[in-house]
Amino acid sequence: VSEQVLVVPDLHCPYHDPKVWSCILETIRVVKPSGVVVIGDFADFYSISRHRKDPRRARVLFEDELEAVKRERRRLEKAAGKAWLHFTKGNHENRLDNLVADEAPAVSGLVDTKSAMGFGDAWGWTEYGDWFEYGKCNFTHDLGRAGVNAARQTLQDFGGNICFGHTHRGGIAYQGTTRGETHTALNVGWAGDFKAIDYYHRAKALRDWQHGLGQVTYDRSGFCWLNFLPILKGRLMINGHQISAKEIRK
Ligand SMILES: [Fe+2]
Ligand SMILES: [Fe+2]
Repeated sequence: VSEQVLVVPDLHCPYHDPKVWSCILETIRVVKPSGVVVIGDFADFYSISRHRKDPRRARVLFEDELEAVKRERRRLEKAAGKAWLHFTKGNHENRLDNLVADEAPAVSGLVDTKSAMGFGDAWGWTEYGDWFEYGKCNFTHDLGRAGVNAARQTLQDFGGNICFGHTHRGGIAYQGTTRGETHTALNVGWAGDFKAIDYYHRAKALRDWQHGLGQVTYDRSGFCWLNFLPILKGRLMINGHQISAKEIRK
């Protein structure tokens, strides 16, 4: 094996599941990948959302959301050690850009989501609606597809190896070409908290949404194998080893 990259799914911080997140961080510590990609929607940015707010949901200040994002980013950087780091922005991080574009377009150039979230020079960055190419694999938050067939549709839309988030589902699809190439699409799941959902029917979320993370393994030529690593009952199994949540620090 030449290289391994782990892919952090939609976290929707601070509405993430602390146990699932801890399990993902522990997996990164154990696997020691050469790279870590965050697939976007790491932040929820509920406080600046244009959607109607649930009055029963606790009011959260934008600055508190940013503090939570910075805290979890620091934990991720610590777990990743010497791995290279890359972020592909999601539609939720893009809420800040949209807010500024709508309300104060004159200063839009002054607002930088990356630095507002405390992501420094160590992080490679891809804007929403674009993709990051590494070896023969590509990473993006979404191509506008959702639902049970998202992996297959995204593979058809993209036409190459593609690793994506957004749907909160774990999924994989394969398709060859008549020239003998093999392409894979990987939908990397979710690390959110079922109790914090107010944007999807809870029953459907409980049945369809999957905790887990993505794994991309490369050979020396850059050819890659894409896998989904599900977290079931708070536990992840990798090569016969069980990884579960470490003690949760507040
Ligand atoms: Fe998401
Ligand atoms: Fe998303």
